[in-house]
Amino acid sequence: MTDADARPHPRHEAIRVVDHPLITHNLTRIRDRDTPSQRFRELVGQVGALLAYEATRDLNLTPVQVHTPLERCEGAQLNQPISIVPILRAGLGFADSIHRLIPDAQVGHIGMFRDEKRLTPVPYYQKTPPAIADGPVLLVDPMLATGGSAAAAIDLLRSCGCRDIRFICLIAASEGVAKLAAHAPGVPIYTAAIDRQLDKNGYILPGLGDAGDRIYGTA
Ligand code: PRP
Ligand code: URA
Repeated sequence: MTDADARPHPRHEAIRVVDHPLITHNLTRIRDRDTPSQRFRELVGQVGALLAYEATRDLNLTPVQVHTPLERCEGAQLNQPISIVPILRAGLGFADSIHRLIPDAQVGHIGMFRDEKRLTPVPYYQKTPPAIADGPVLLVDPMLATGGSAAAAIDLLRSCGCRDIRFICLIAASEGVAKLAAHAPGVPIYTAAIDRQLDKNGYILPGLGDAGDRIYGTA
């Protein structure tokens, strides 16, 4: 993928819609209501890893030397601790595949669900790695709807001292993009799609339905 494949969006300078045929193909399967839970879970993980690939494109490297079986070789390695923080539950659908991409990353968890009437986030769990503030944090959740959950999770990470926070989602609603543009303009958003609007229950249109329910078969 090149930078040209990660387009900015007029409503948020720091949003990147990652445009790639594999992402478009898999996102279409993910949206399809006939895709069964196991396949849905696999596809969400695969697209999450592709989005993380783009979100980590500018990570800092330090030069190192290694010895191949034949001779000395100049190389480079990541020089900061990287953290992956899924917002439970649906964020777990991204966490394992991104962790496989960055096996040395540390993983934190933020538990949050939306109050169904008010559509406001209700936090219920938090566990962050001790060195989380020392490097980039990939905050991951497939759905950005009103943006309330992502904004609350960003506040929580900032209260831990995190400065380099990157939000990765599968689908962003325009309302959520606008909310994060106002609340956290310095936090880049990496997404596979920006969808039209929310319905009266706060679901993204066209969206994919309830991500957590489809991942875990709880619908
Ligand atoms: C979903 C989703 C986000 C949140 C997005 O979680 O995974 O965390 O809604 O909505 P928002 O942008 O309006 O805050 P949900 O509350 O359904 O919990 P779950 O992942 O446990 O199913
Ligand atoms: N959370 C979801 O899982 N889906 C939506 O459409 C909105 C919030």
